[in-house]
Amino acid sequence: MTDREELESMCKRRGFIWQSAEIYGGEAGFYDYGHLGARLLDNWKREWKEFFLGLDENYQVIHTPSIHPYRVLEASGHVDHFSDVMVRCERCGSSFRGDQLVEEETGENAEWMGKEEISEKILELDLSCPDCGGTFSEPEDFNMMFQLDIGPTGEKKGFLRPETAQSAYLNFRREFRALRKKMPMGLATIGSAFRNEISPRRGVYRMREFQQAELQIFFLPGIHDDIYEAKFEEIKDTKVRIKRAEAEEAKEIELQDIEDIPAFYLYHLGEMYRFASEVMDLDPKEIRFRELPSEERAFYNKIHFDLEVDFDTIGGWKEISGLHYRSDHDLKQHQEGSNTKLSVPTDNGRKIPHVIELSYGIDRNIWALLDKGYHPDDDRAWLDLPGRLTPRQVAVFPLVRKDGLPEKSREVYDVLDDDLLAHWEKSGSIGKRYARNDEVGTRYCVTIDYDTLEDDTVTIRDVESTEQIRVSIDEIDEIIEGLIEGEKSFQYHQKS
Ligand code: GAP
Repeated sequence: MTDREELESMCKRRGFIWQSAEIYGGEAGFYDYGHLGARLLDNWKREWKEFFLGLDENYQVIHTPSIHPYRVLEASGHVDHFSDVMVRCERCGSSFRGDQLVEEETGENAEWMGKEEISEKILELDLSCPDCGGTFSEPEDFNMMFQLDIGPTGEKKGFLRPETAQSAYLNFRREFRALRKKMPMGLATIGSAFRNEISPRRGVYRMREFQQAELQIFFLPGIHDDIYEAKFEEIKDTKVRIKRAEAEEAKEIELQDIEDIPAFYLYHLGEMYRFASEVMDLDPKEIRFRELPSEERAFYNKIHFDLEVDFDTIGGWKEISGLHYRSDHDLKQHQEGSNTKLSVPTDNGRKIPHVIELSYGIDRNIWALLDKGYHPDDDRAWLDLPGRLTPRQVAVFPLVRKDGLPEKSREVYDVLDDDLLAHWEKSGSIGKRYARNDEVGTRYCVTIDYDTLEDDTVTIRDVESTEQIRVSIDEIDEIIEGLIEGEKSFQYHQKS
């Protein structure tokens, strides 16, 4: 079990993640990524794009601003509905999310509760302010969007976007034409989202500025069903752990045995599972999909499962991404709000496309990788990240800092640095270099020793097993790339 303090300490010491504006005491809900964290982030985004845009040639990325005019979020429903229930302490003035207070007391999910339920629970459980013991005010709705003025007059209002999704709806009409009116059509947005969370906590789990990677797929139910049925056919026997809304426990089930959910939904659920288990290499026993009952779903969702990870550091099963069937809600709202036709022609007249949304919180996905990958064992601390995601794929060192070994190691580094995320260092003992690199997830360490000068061979050490193989310098980049891509195995080279 990884302890949160230990992992946060490693993240700060080694250059992954820490609180923003730290030198001023920080501000809750904002985090910075250091040099290794930023690389991990970039790698994750690249893999996400490669995987999900690879599902269909008509799934594309767009790039859009983080500020939306007021009218956009009014039409989408966020101005009226995007709120959490807040209670204030009448004595010290601290504010809390009502559902979190209830959850902390009962251990049960209370996210679905409205003002009335929270009020009743506060009385029933006799809850008081965790900071000072004071009594609470009546619960109120708190809209989580950051509002701002656009321009100097103060007349134009806008919001920092609370989700990246809206950008895809705003661009649907233009992209539909630019992509030659082909459907299904997917528009992905990767960027910051902003929510003025009442009580940000659990590190990057609940932030006020965070990053999302969201893919909105526009399709027409009844017209494009056969496309998704055919795609689903290929993955229908994928086994996933699912907790249905009415069930007490999650159970492992083949997707084809879920009979009440349409193929367009199950197909994308299966692909999200594949991304988590194959690309992120998360243990299938530590991931599950949880179906949200209607009272817990956002106002725009018809079917909603969250992908959850069993975290060590932030208290068990928590959501990292979600699959939302938003129906035709969004385009309908924007058609009305903008007075612009957003329907498309079909054989049976014009129809408004429906949307299925794959919604990823990038920071939570990164935390899942760190939480599951970090092993602060007694004899060594090491980070187990997949080779394509790790911020440092290979490190090169000379055994000692003399006799031409640093120069030779630099030559090897220059070759590897062309195609891999490579690092070179010569300070400290070899043991300390291994320790530093193990802790940041360097998959392979290459050491140049006196034999290298004789026969042009080097050792490669594997972070997971700490075992070593000896290979010729001529083949080193090919071997390491093969190992990273999973095309070669370390054991094979050990034997040969
Ligand atoms: N477009 C749909 C949408 O935004 P959501 O469930 O509110 O749905 C999607 O958010 C994902 O964004 C979540 O699964 C989570 O990973 C991430 N997320 C949401 N709020 C967050 C926060 N305050 N801090 C960090 N990540 C957050």
